[in-house]
Amino acid sequence: MKSPRIFVPNDATAVACGADRVARKLEAGLLARGITADITRNGSRGLFWLEPLIEVETERGRIGYGPVKPSDVEDLLHAGILHGSDHPLCVGVVDEIPYLKKQTRLTFARIGIIDPLSLTDYKAHGGYRGLERAITLGPAATVEEVVESGLRGRGGAGFPTGIKWRTVAAAPADQRYIVCNADEGDSGTFADRLIMEADPFCLIEGMTIAGLAVGATRGYVYCRSEYPLAFVVMEKAIEKARMAGLLGDNILGSGLAFDMEMRMGAGAYVCGEETSLLESLEGKRGLVRAKPPLPAHKGLFQKPTVINNLVSLATVPVILDKGGKYYRDFGMGRSRGTMPIQIAGNIKFGGLFETAFGIPLGELVYDIGGGTASGRPVKAVQAGGPLGAYLPTHQFDTPFDYEAFSAKDALIGHGGLVVFDDTADLADMARFAMEFCAHESCGKCTPCRIGSIRGVETLDKVMAGEQREQNLALLTDLCHTMKLGSLCALGGFTPYPVISALNHFPEDFGVAPKLPAAAE
Ligand SMILES: Cc1cc2nc3c(=O)[nH]c(=O)nc-3n(C[C@H](O)[C@H](O)[C@H](O)COP(=O)(O)O)c2cc1C
Ligand code: SF4
Repeated sequence: MKSPRIFVPNDATAVACGADRVARKLEAGLLARGITADITRNGSRGLFWLEPLIEVETERGRIGYGPVKPSDVEDLLHAGILHGSDHPLCVGVVDEIPYLKKQTRLTFARIGIIDPLSLTDYKAHGGYRGLERAITLGPAATVEEVVESGLRGRGGAGFPTGIKWRTVAAAPADQRYIVCNADEGDSGTFADRLIMEADPFCLIEGMTIAGLAVGATRGYVYCRSEYPLAFVVMEKAIEKARMAGLLGDNILGSGLAFDMEMRMGAGAYVCGEETSLLESLEGKRGLVRAKPPLPAHKGLFQKPTVINNLVSLATVPVILDKGGKYYRDFGMGRSRGTMPIQIAGNIKFGGLFETAFGIPLGELVYDIGGGTASGRPVKAVQAGGPLGAYLPTHQFDTPFDYEAFSAKDALIGHGGLVVFDDTADLADMARFAMEFCAHESCGKCTPCRIGSIRGVETLDKVMAGEQREQNLALLTDLCHTMKLGSLCALGGFTPYPVISALNHFPEDFGVAPKLPAAAE
């Protein structure tokens, strides 16, 4: 008889919630009962409020139990979970959970389903079909497939990925590079980490396709320093891919070469900015470079470089496998395909929700996220990381779309949403934005380096009621200067959270709210 297969996630979220202790209890409980079972350490499905979520393979599908504490394990075994029996912690067939069923998982299709380090599992779930097709198509047609997909960079700026690749492929050079930006500094975001920990071959395949497409033979993953687990999983996966001939001098017997390495990030938010990242990767201080030249022309070691966010690169395999047209059929307007939206902050059902662009913000917060964890009314959502605007509830009809967000002076960024309830003080949050900028500034340009310090001081005066009107006028003027005069988006976008907080929540700054007719 086949041994039962049980899944216990091994990614940082589940482990932080006690998954390792649960796995050990499970092993001991099975041993004591003389039962041989295959305990697979998968990754989280991205339904974080259920972690640790144990899944048991049955004829009805994978039955889930969560959140499981080590002290629940004996009771679960006693209840007969190996046969998918009922229990108060049972959440039924995991694929049928509405949070999961409502999603369109293209980039995250394998997350939580496979053993992250099993190439057999990866291939059994569509892995490496994209690379095989890219080899058949050849470099130019591979680039055009990515152009056709309409994929835009998932790191923040939303620049079309295929166009970036075209530029690098056309740049004359003896050496080109692929750099994966896995610095993932935005508040509330974890999509990059989850791919590295739960489906690492997907990133390796995406980077390999990028390398073959633009003629780059080397790649680097610049990994956020707070992600030690992801780093280790990636190193193991790279070694396995190399051993299997999926990296190296003769990929899949094609005679084509590509190899890659992991690099630990320097631990600064600004090192996620592409040129600062390249400096850091070269072993220098993470100082932003002036553009031009673009990294596509002169990037790593002054060679043409594709620098893409991890999610952008991990989306390439499905595009090559199913075709650019298939991917672009999802979404709205110029926002094509799907986005892994990361719902965080004060929210009942926090996690990863991959869906086609176009879903209204309010649906994500209320219907999917279930409202605040505190049970209090939602006050605002900060979208797009620490440099993103605060959106009040009256803007919750805004569709998740680059252009619709931009029309509201807001950012999609890396797809992070941080929810706040009505106890949040938005003047405090505005001050935090300036403080964050001062702390993280690389120091190269004055509007950001000095402006952010003056911003904190001015906000302190406003909050102390000191010459409030004059200081608010000064703050608005300062924000204008930072927006237009900063060299990169750290200084240039810090005004967005500040001004949105002031515009939508003036009462938090001690100012009378605008009359409804004058309000946005
Ligand atoms: C201050 C700052 C921090 C950034 N941090 C990140 C980051 O952590 N990850 C990321 O992918 N992009 C980050 N970016 C955006 C990158 O500069 C760049 O646009 C991105 O890596 C390009 O990849 P994409 O086209 O695939 O989005 C940051 C930008 C700025 C200004
Ligand atoms: S805006 Fe800030 S982080 Fe960006 S270059 Fe200027 S000082 Fe450096």
